[in-house]
Amino acid sequence: MQDDRGLKRIFTLSWAYNLFQDLVGATNSRKWVAEHFWRAQPGQRIIDLGCGPATTVHFLPAGVKYVGFDVSDKYIASARTKYATDPDKTFLVGVPEDFVNHLPQQMQNADLVIINGLLHHLDDAEALTALKLARKSLAPGGRLVCLEASFLVSQSFWARWVLKQDRGQNVRNEPEWKALVSKVFDKFETYILTGLLRIPYTLIVIETRL
Ligand SMILES: C[S@@+](CC[C@H](N)C(=O)[O-])C[C@H]1O[C@@H](n2cnc3c(N)ncnc32)[C@H](O)[C@@H]1O
Repeated sequence: MQDDRGLKRIFTLSWAYNLFQDLVGATNSRKWVAEHFWRAQPGQRIIDLGCGPATTVHFLPAGVKYVGFDVSDKYIASARTKYATDPDKTFLVGVPEDFVNHLPQQMQNADLVIINGLLHHLDDAEALTALKLARKSLAPGGRLVCLEASFLVSQSFWARWVLKQDRGQNVRNEPEWKALVSKVFDKFETYILTGLLRIPYTLIVIETRL
């Protein structure tokens, strides 16, 4: 679930979302994760679950075949406008439940599935559907890379406080992330990232390969 009440409502606008992401350093963190974890190659098929205004595309090499979907029609409209001249970029409005049992052809055989900040907006049932969708979308040998906010057993007061203000109402702690992902994937690695943003914040990368 996403909390868009009060001042947080402004982030439903793509320009405000992108400005905030730049200010807190999330844009730089995407660059870092793109280089160290996504490692996308031209020509690869990439699916982005909860793509927002598709800020991720900027950090992918030219020539990837990209499909992103998001529940927000405003974000998807903004992404479609930005990439209107690129036939290899497709944007859909929807939630994981819409696709998991009716996988569109363009969401099959993915080399890389990106989940960047979606799962902490979803309760366990929805998050499991998203992970199942990722699994169904992956080609043999394909990889899933999730980047999510995470509580830690030991964490600074400010990092916890900032995480509690997040629009996503389902920030989990490290054992909870592992328990969730293990319901869909037998093998995966997790990495805790601190210091990537300009604000106190803790991120977890979850990476798995089919
Ligand atoms: C923190 S933003 C991340 C956006 C994007 N992945 C990025 O890296 O900028 C979370 C996104 O998840 C989307 N979202 C929330 N609940 C969703 C759902 N049930 N299905 C699809 N998208 C959802 C929101 O609209 C928002 O764009």
